[in-house]
Amino acid sequence: MASNFLHDHIQEGSILKVRPPNGSFVLDPSPTDPVVLLSNGVGITPMMAMLKAVAVHNPARKIWFFHGARDGRVHAFRQEVAMTARGMEGLTIHYVYSRPQPEDQGHFHSQGYVDVPLIRSLVRDEADYFLCGSPAFMTSIRAGLKAEGVPEERVRFEMFSQPPRAAATTPAGEADAALPGSLAATVTFARSGRTVEWQGDHDNLLAFAEAHGLRPDHSCRAGICGTCACRLLEGDVIDAEPPTASVAPGSVLICISRPGSAKISLDL
Ligand code: FES
Repeated sequence: MASNFLHDHIQEGSILKVRPPNGSFVLDPSPTDPVVLLSNGVGITPMMAMLKAVAVHNPARKIWFFHGARDGRVHAFRQEVAMTARGMEGLTIHYVYSRPQPEDQGHFHSQGYVDVPLIRSLVRDEADYFLCGSPAFMTSIRAGLKAEGVPEERVRFEMFSQPPRAAATTPAGEADAALPGSLAATVTFARSGRTVEWQGDHDNLLAFAEAHGLRPDHSCRAGICGTCACRLLEGDVIDAEPPTASVAPGSVLICISRPGSAKISLDL
């Protein structure tokens, strides 16, 4: 939605209200620990920023750059990676094409998909992993690294599409007993001085807050970006799905949570 809007309506000179970068998908370029950057499709985009940061701040760092594409026609940033790689003696690049064209011969390293056996065949060191790609790619790599015993805190990822969510089956305004959490609760929005009754008739506390006139910060509405994080002052909440964003202790992601106790209070 956002990309189409930008292409259709925004020109040079347009003024946009934007947020600064946010989130935990961040590579500190300074340490010397080996790092593995894994992407497919347009998931290569954040990897470019990471690669360039290491090129400037720590060009000797051991770094593997795996990227999967269908063929050379849709392989983004090939030239830019080649230029950035100059002088990075610790860098190993591995391109995987799933359906290479005849003219691609000599421009990729293996045929198929980026997967854990391939990664393991090249990466023997303990390393930090950064992943960005399609949902299927992310799911299989994360599961494979976990099965290989890579600690979860060494694997960071960023989704560029939302995970599939269960289709809504309940008409708006009706309680959905299938969703987790309390069907009745008293919710206080402490900063706004509002106390309202929750009757299970909203998917999450963000939608509930909006229905009562509040405008909490939010972006993805899927537990990915962390923008809606809010301090929980009293009570408990239950997440409808595991959050992707990391959440500070004492805070909750209101876009995926529902009341889990008879009374809750949020710093909103
Ligand atoms: S809006 Fe992105 S995590 Fe809630």
